[in-house]
Amino acid sequence: MQRRDFLKMAAAAVPAGLVTSSTAVYAVAVEPTWIQVWSHRLAIPRLPAALSGLSVVQLSDIHRSDIVSGPFVREAVERVLALQPELVVLTGDFISGDTDCFRLVADELALLAQVAPVFASMGNHDYDHWYRPVAPRLPHGAQLLGEEFARVGIELLVDRGRVVAPRGDAGELEVLGLDDFWHRGFDPTAAFRSLPGTGDAGRARIVLGHNPDAYTAIQDQRFELALFGHTHGGQISLPLFGAPYVPCEDPRFMSGLVDTGRHLVYTNRGLGYNRRVRFGVRPEITHFTLLPA
Ligand SMILES: [Fe+2]
Repeated sequence: MQRRDFLKMAAAAVPAGLVTSSTAVYAVAVEPTWIQVWSHRLAIPRLPAALSGLSVVQLSDIHRSDIVSGPFVREAVERVLALQPELVVLTGDFISGDTDCFRLVADELALLAQVAPVFASMGNHDYDHWYRPVAPRLPHGAQLLGEEFARVGIELLVDRGRVVAPRGDAGELEVLGLDDFWHRGFDPTAAFRSLPGTGDAGRARIVLGHNPDAYTAIQDQRFELALFGHTHGGQISLPLFGAPYVPCEDPRFMSGLVDTGRHLVYTNRGLGYNRRVRFGVRPEITHFTLLPA
């Protein structure tokens, strides 16, 4: 190769290299902690008029660990408090691996329980469970997490429902927490049976899950809104190409809001991460304003 040709090639490669390295820096150093608040106004059948405008905030997939830090979780909590939530829901994957993080994340979320009722559901990482047919490495994860959450006023719902009155006597709705879809104990029938007055004239019902593939197991049940996480929206989403990998079999539920015709289903893109990289899928806080349908 002539020296002149080499210099031309090198001159062309420098901008390409700059773009590549800037993108990598952005994906590792900027986007993983650049929180985005998604706001949705949802019309909910059976929601009492007295609960019109109810402010509900969802966090999911915090994955507290040595790479998802306490200050980052506390920043997210401050952002949630600024939304003046009347109900907070947390949809699984609170830790990645280290069970000491159950205590840490409970302490970091404790402020939320001082301003609103807070309910949580289990994620596969809370059982240290990566794949359905394999036994979880942390089978007592629900007990450990439930105890830490109870200590700070957060209620973990494992295939169990609760009647909630977020504005005192003004009106009620139901919150139902599913066990993780991959856990052997997953029993949605028991979860729905735990609620009184399950007829069509009953209260508006919000399901908290983790893996949106659980929708197949509950789609014949009566509820108005199901909230999931788990997918992280793929964590990397490339322009024109989308997310190369999303851990969810039903492509409808990769991220965001879906109206299935019978139910509203929302998949949160997650706050934390297992590997510190995000591109095109910023950490999410979801703010729902519920209105009577
Ligand atoms: Fe997750």
